[in-house]
Amino acid sequence: MPPYSPLSLRLSDEPDPAWKVHQIASERKAAGEDIIILSIGEPDSPPPPAVVAEVDASIARGRTRYAEARGEAAVVAAICGYVSRQAGREITPAMVNFFPGAQTAMFGMLMTIVGPGDALILPEPFYAPYTQVLRASGVEVDHVPLRPEDGFHPRIDDLRAAIRPATRAVVLTHPHNPTGAMLDRAELQAIADLCAEHDLWLLADEVYGEFDFAGPYTSILALDGVEDRVISLGTLSKAYAMTGFRHGWSVAPPELAARAGVLLEAMLFGCVQFIQDAGAVALADGGAFPRAEREKYLRRLDRVMAELEGASAIVPRRPEAGMFVMIDIRPTGLEAEDFALRLLDQERVSVLPTHTFGPSGAGHVRISLGMDDEQLVEAARRIRRFADGLA
Ligand SMILES: Cc1ncc(COP(=O)(O)O)c(C=O)c1O
Repeated sequence: MPPYSPLSLRLSDEPDPAWKVHQIASERKAAGEDIIILSIGEPDSPPPPAVVAEVDASIARGRTRYAEARGEAAVVAAICGYVSRQAGREITPAMVNFFPGAQTAMFGMLMTIVGPGDALILPEPFYAPYTQVLRASGVEVDHVPLRPEDGFHPRIDDLRAAIRPATRAVVLTHPHNPTGAMLDRAELQAIADLCAEHDLWLLADEVYGEFDFAGPYTSILALDGVEDRVISLGTLSKAYAMTGFRHGWSVAPPELAARAGVLLEAMLFGCVQFIQDAGAVALADGGAFPRAEREKYLRRLDRVMAELEGASAIVPRRPEAGMFVMIDIRPTGLEAEDFALRLLDQERVSVLPTHTFGPSGAGHVRISLGMDDEQLVEAARRIRRFADGLA
């Protein structure tokens, strides 16, 4: 057989170890076991009803044709309005590209800004599915640790020390998955200033920005003096519970956005019109749906924390933002995967060990708040019972 491309060969075709426990749990649940799965980060709400109705209406209007490569004008305008409100700064259509989800936006923007021979800086632990995206681009990744004792916030000195001649970008997930850390404006500005000093792109995945618990979230688009280098990725997957719609975007300086647009044209030749229409309807609510989702997650967070605080040998970490709670299990003396597998066997709760998201995630497991209140509280009770048993 003729050979595959270097890009394809950079990708691993082994199952991602990050999902091992989740996979075992899912198989056992499918086989009929009563397992509560908290190991995946998908919102439990259905999408807004007006959005679902718009899919039918849009198809009935004939919106089933080829579309603008960079996004249809109406949804791009809606994204501009939404992100401008979040950033407190005017975002123009020339800065926006429509992508089928933030994952694809990460792929497209990395392909546009880095390649083999370049390096970028990515704090770890990091969102595991980006591993393959990074490999595809061929970029070398320099990780800096997010230490539990710092609340998983990056240290500016670590970032500075990781810069080398090949470095082209700093990549953040803000707010952070899995750790729930949310950087404040001063921290973000210091990172942005570092990027300006070394002429680096600052690329941030901001998909959890709506779910800020510890104070108002600041988008990297709100920072001063770095308009020519910040790239923000957004999505309706989390805020509007629209994961399967594959509806996301990038916001970038106009010149870079136009470069990425060439890639979009080459690769996607436009995205689905009726999905874009549905997205425009979602965004027309002025943020009401995400606000209600945020309240829901906050209520669940309070209930989970109330169950877990005071448990023996585990320490729940209250997230500053996002959809997840990290639990520090180091006092149990167990490895995170061992903890998760034993918890699954004994209490039928599936949690995600985070060592596979990066070595600084060791000794922790992540639970998702995307589960109805009663199941979530029951799961927290089981986790507590398990931990108390270990102690
Ligand atoms: C940090 C982060 N980025 C991106 C995504 C995927 O977003 P999308 O559905 O828009 O591709 C997820 C999903 O879990 C995520 O946690």
